[in-house]
Amino acid sequence: MIKKLTLSAVTAITMALGGTAALAAGEGGHIEDVAFSFEGPFGTYDQQQLQRGFKVYMDVCRACHGLQYVPLRTLTDLGYSEDEVRAFAAENFEIYEAETDEWRPALPRDNFPAVSGEGMGPDLSLMAKARAGFHGPAGTGINQLLKGMGGPEYITAFLTGFTGEEREVAGQYLYENTAFDGGWVSMPPQLSDGLVDFDDGHANDAHHLAEDVAAFLMWTAEPKMMERKQAGFIGVIMLVILATMLYLTNKKLWAPHKYGKELDL
Ligand code: HEC
Repeated sequence: MIKKLTLSAVTAITMALGGTAALAAGEGGHIEDVAFSFEGPFGTYDQQQLQRGFKVYMDVCRACHGLQYVPLRTLTDLGYSEDEVRAFAAENFEIYEAETDEWRPALPRDNFPAVSGEGMGPDLSLMAKARAGFHGPAGTGINQLLKGMGGPEYITAFLTGFTGEEREVAGQYLYENTAFDGGWVSMPPQLSDGLVDFDDGHANDAHHLAEDVAAFLMWTAEPKMMERKQAGFIGVIMLVILATMLYLTNKKLWAPHKYGKELDL
């Protein structure tokens, strides 16, 4: 029985690891794995990368996509001081105050604004989780488990997946995209090499820009990922200690009966 179980477990793992090829043919479009810093049980966000992704969002994506579930004050997670966040909010966003019927500069307690209208895209606050995907053999999601492939990989692949082909359907332009389910999307290609510059001269080819903004969007979707992992890890340690103690207690409690009987025989 045990042998059988081990065998099937080994087969399952081998299949999963060999699944790289199947991944390309996976459901929807073509997604490549990216080794993001926040993957794995001890992975953490790279603050510098989040700052770069945030800049890409502000310079490029913000024109068409809101982040309405993200409070501006949480930008301190990215390493900015409270004063910097306050100044940034006031400089970049205006909030409509229904009570006074006036627009006022945004405060840290406000959220990023929603963006809507003709040609605008969906809100991106939770997109990295909404598109987690089920990559792997037969859509099992095993690649997500083993390689951490998910929403950020999808977003990277989506942003860099434009082929340059476009067509007009009923007055609307569609752009061919190898990652997008169905292959044609109404969002025009956005990123190109060198589109956004970073103060520290960090690589800014289209692929790096895509990875950075994808990491930033993972943070907007799950800002407390690191705390969650830490809590989970502490939980596991406590369970291991508890299990060991129970096992030892169990042995000790039953020892007289077990050995007593054996001697009787
Ligand atoms: C000119 C407007 C525009 C800009 C700028 C723009 N987008 Fe979009 N985006 C759209 C539209 C429109 C859609 C909806 C596409 C559809 O469903 O056909 C979309 C959809 C998306 C989607 C969802 C794809 C899916 O699987 O449904 C993601 C992710 C996305 N955009 C990310 C970005 C990022 C990141 C940026 C900045 C680098 C960006 N967009 C810039 C218009 C834009």
